Amino acid sequence: MQGDFPNLTVVQHPLVQHKLTWLRAEETNTDSFRNLLREVSQMLVYEATRDLPTEDIAIRTPVTEMKSPVISGKKLCLVSILRAGNGLLDGALAILPLARVGHIGLYRDPETLEPVEYYFKVPSDMAERQVIVVDPMLATGNSAVAAIDRIKEHGCSSIKLLCLLAAPEGVQNMLQHHPDVPIVTAALDSHLNEHGYIVPGLGDAGDRIFGTL
Ligand code: URA
Repeated sequence: MQGDFPNLTVVQHPLVQHKLTWLRAEETNTDSFRNLLREVSQMLVYEATRDLPTEDIAIRTPVTEMKSPVISGKKLCLVSILRAGNGLLDGALAILPLARVGHIGLYRDPETLEPVEYYFKVPSDMAERQVIVVDPMLATGNSAVAAIDRIKEHGCSSIKLLCLLAAPEGVQNMLQHHPDVPIVTAALDSHLNEHGYIVPGLGDAGDRIFGTL
């Protein structure tokens, strides 16, 4: 948990911080950006799943019998907020290969900065799953709040939000609307600029992932 925000965990790990520096750097090309994002997302998922319950099962090693832990409890569902959320999916699925995946399409109205939904497809059994919403940039937080509103409408009670960068405005918005949803991020940045971009940030995450600059 971080500073004034009881809902926020910033992953303070040298590997995460190193890779984040190169994600931020303007000269990082699309190929490197995607690879770095995939690597960092694995580390963020590692942190976001730290409290998954386990149960002991009986196994035989080549040497002896033993009881050893495996993940128990709810199955997992990743929900990507399109389109930039997809940049975090590959890494997340590399370490959660059995997770189901939902997609929520939201774009930000450039005038109001409010989210507008254009796509919604999630697994039918999502209410029984632990949900991890992925979106690289928690800026105003309006998209994350709207996406989580919709996910809760589907009966989900166990939700986390995973993002690469967070602005205080977005974390506060989440705290106000979804205080039960923990946020895991690689950095809490300074503020939003007049265009709704995170400062210092990394620019438009979708453009940098998909090379649409
Ligand atoms: N979305 C982005 O891609 N970048 C920002 O800085 C804010 C929102």
